Amino acid sequence: MSTDQQPRANNGVFRTKTVEQSIRDTEEPEHALKKSLSAWDLMVFGVGVIIGTGIFVLTGKVAKENAGPATALAFIAAGIVCALAALCYAEFASTVPVAGSAYTFAYASIGELPAWIIGWDLVLEFALGTAVVAVGWSGYVRSLMDNIDWHLPAALEGPDVPGGTFDILAFLLVLVLTVVLVLGMKLSARITALVVAIKVTVVMIVIVAGLFFIVGDNYEPFIPPAVTPEGGGSNWDAPLVQLLFGYEATNFGVMGIFTAASVVFFAFIGFDVVATAAEETKLPQRDMPRGILGSLFICTVLYVAVALVVTGMQHYTELSVSAPLADAFKAAGHPFYAGVISFGAAVGLTTVCLILLLGQTRVFFAMSRDGLLPRFFSKTHPRFKTPYRPTILLGVIIAIVAGFTSINELATLVNIGTLFAFVVVAFGVIVLRRTRPDLPRAFRTPWVPVLPILSIAASLWLMLNLPGETWFRFAVWMVIGIVVYFLYGRRHSRLGQEGQAAKY
Ligand code: ALA
Repeated sequence: MSTDQQPRANNGVFRTKTVEQSIRDTEEPEHALKKSLSAWDLMVFGVGVIIGTGIFVLTGKVAKENAGPATALAFIAAGIVCALAALCYAEFASTVPVAGSAYTFAYASIGELPAWIIGWDLVLEFALGTAVVAVGWSGYVRSLMDNIDWHLPAALEGPDVPGGTFDILAFLLVLVLTVVLVLGMKLSARITALVVAIKVTVVMIVIVAGLFFIVGDNYEPFIPPAVTPEGGGSNWDAPLVQLLFGYEATNFGVMGIFTAASVVFFAFIGFDVVATAAEETKLPQRDMPRGILGSLFICTVLYVAVALVVTGMQHYTELSVSAPLADAFKAAGHPFYAGVISFGAAVGLTTVCLILLLGQTRVFFAMSRDGLLPRFFSKTHPRFKTPYRPTILLGVIIAIVAGFTSINELATLVNIGTLFAFVVVAFGVIVLRRTRPDLPRAFRTPWVPVLPILSIAASLWLMLNLPGETWFRFAVWMVIGIVVYFLYGRRHSRLGQEGQAAKY
């Protein structure tokens, strides 16, 4: 091995872990995950996590408040941002096939502190994403229960409901899924496959059956003219881009499409989670790119179709914000379809929650294996071979968060965290091409550095369209992360310790 393949013996925050070292770490038996997933599993995995609260819940909200029928264009805009990022993710995932997604990629390319920042950021993305989806799931389950006249006490319906404080269903869902994950990947992959089939069928029902109820007039105007929101929109919940440039905040119009895109972006989150399972994939070099790009493509087509159908069935001003797909069928006089859709949504959201929770524990696992978090968390279970310690710890915390928190603000925070990760990954592709041109890359991002630069610009643009208050919360989370790094990770980093040892 040449010297440039050794860990750099320095103690700086930009020390990088070599790709070979990352792969070698996965081979330590006590800290290894089972390699059992194929490209097909990954695609099922991807579609399983991608289609969720975004399409089932947020479509109605953004159509009504930000973009009208042009919501379909918002999905295309968000899909393009994700496709650019996916091309960068795919190169990294096929080059550095170990658990931890963008975190691992950043560690191998830019350095330890940026990697820590991204890992900390991904913890936010996946943990809050799990909570958001659990709360969305709970809403659909309650709506199904309403059909048979079953009602929970108001206090247990969650903070989004008037009079509610604790969402017992969301809380229980996260706990049950935590147990499933502790018992092992294979079990959850099997359940996932079944549930994904139900979810995709329901989405197809919406598209095909809905076609018959489209009323052309509902598409008028396709891009509703810009309006000033109540209160002038100059406060912290206006998009940052509007606050920064001081122009009057508006909803709808062309800018409304981008505001909508920055929210429905949530609907695409998940393709990056596929990359977190690289270490558990049999042939990551070949199967990772296929899994990531394939699942992203399928979802984009479905989303655009659903958005067009739903805004064609009901005028955007009338759409429901809690269960728009089902309610559009109720409004068209077909409660049976509405019931089937609600059922499919509730079942489908279960897998989304499960996979986000899985991604979350894998990132935490990878960070702990590197010593940036206590190594205690990276011991896998002797029998199930799963990282059971972070799974249990985080599962319980997320269950509590899901029980007590409201869905809306969390979703935008998840989006900003994810977009930030995209920026780092795209940057990492450029860096790794320069620092390690020799590495075998089963998948190569085309047009480097142009495409990664476009990806960075596109992700930043969506970030700028998120509310000012979301930026503020994100900044607070990141500052806490940097403090934790300097108090713990920097001193306990395995890479740092190896670097020290190499000096003496
Ligand atoms: N993309 C996932 C969803 O929409 C996170 O729920």
